[in-house]
Amino acid sequence: MPPSLFLRACRGEATERAPIWVMRQAGRYLPEYRQVRAGVSFLELCKTPQLAAEVTLQPIRRFGFDAAILFSDLLVPLEAMGLEVQFTEQGPRLPQPLRAPADLGRVSRFDPEAGTGFVLETIRLLRGELGDTPLIGFAGAPFTVATYAIEGKTAKNFIETKAFFYRHPAEARRLLAVIAEATRDYLTAQVRAGAQALQLFDSWVGVVSADDWESYVLPPTAALVGELRATGVPVIYFANGATTIFDRVARVGADVYGVDWRLPLDEARARLGGKAAVQGNLDPSVLLGPADEIQRRATDVVRRGGKRGHVFNLGHGIYPETPIASVEALVSAVRSA
Ligand code: CP3
Repeated sequence: MPPSLFLRACRGEATERAPIWVMRQAGRYLPEYRQVRAGVSFLELCKTPQLAAEVTLQPIRRFGFDAAILFSDLLVPLEAMGLEVQFTEQGPRLPQPLRAPADLGRVSRFDPEAGTGFVLETIRLLRGELGDTPLIGFAGAPFTVATYAIEGKTAKNFIETKAFFYRHPAEARRLLAVIAEATRDYLTAQVRAGAQALQLFDSWVGVVSADDWESYVLPPTAALVGELRATGVPVIYFANGATTIFDRVARVGADVYGVDWRLPLDEARARLGGKAAVQGNLDPSVLLGPADEIQRRATDVVRRGGKRGHVFNLGHGIYPETPIASVEALVSAVRSA
């Protein structure tokens, strides 16, 4: 079997066309997802391998994307680390967040089979169903996971996280290191179960200054990326909101850098030093506009991405409000560009 377009682009190779998948491609914009979700809570969906595998496959069947991404959530391993996690109408909530050094005693590494066996079982089921379509495993990057552990929800200004860092720098570094170690075990187990690429979502890292990035975020994140690359699968690092410091972000050592929509891909590539592959970066809100605008802007992303080492994606997750016809227009624009 020839290596897929997606895996070749992740390796920085030239491809006949850019492979395409979409962050949050399994989710509420799909009527078939809403139908499954009507019967179960979000966490039950994540924890039931047959259902999690089914919703992972839904966007592949409908649009023929070039890669599938495991259906789960970045808060799932936090529960396995010992923190209670709830999904409410207002988003995720952790009723007992970490606010003081003594709270660190409540988080620990875990055995992935014992703590997150349902995720590994979902991956095994998927590999039996996906055929030639590669499967991406994922987790949150240490900083983003730490913000949930400390804030207890999706924060606005991340002041609890920053206050923790500035008041207790040694414990903050310890927390990031524990999360990075747990994430290494978790993602290595995903690869053993059948994941063929890995993505680290650093969704909120755009809030840290360049200095804090270097002193707090880079060391545990680079160590994690290095250990994950040793499994042999490509590692994608998505540092949302961080293109201003992409020269520093490149020191993480990933195979592929996810780029948000704020900076054109060719400029982002230059800031990364031109060595790694890139993934992105159409503004997801373009999909709320007309088909001709989707076509025009998607074609521009393809042109700026170049012929070598570009994985087409949105610059962040697809919105639940997105019309199906827009995703169809996007896929056909990227395929014919
Ligand atoms: O990409 C995919 O299709 C895989 C599924 C996936 C989900 N969450 C499903 C989900 C992935 C990769 C994630 C990662 C995730 N989770 C991130 C990083 C991605 C990003 O957007 O930057 C973040 C920040 C989270 C935390 C999270 N999960 C929030 C803030 C929320 C509530 C907001 C929202 O979108 O509803 C969730 C819930 C969530 N995760 C849903 C889905 C499909 C919606 C749950 C539902 O069905 O009600």
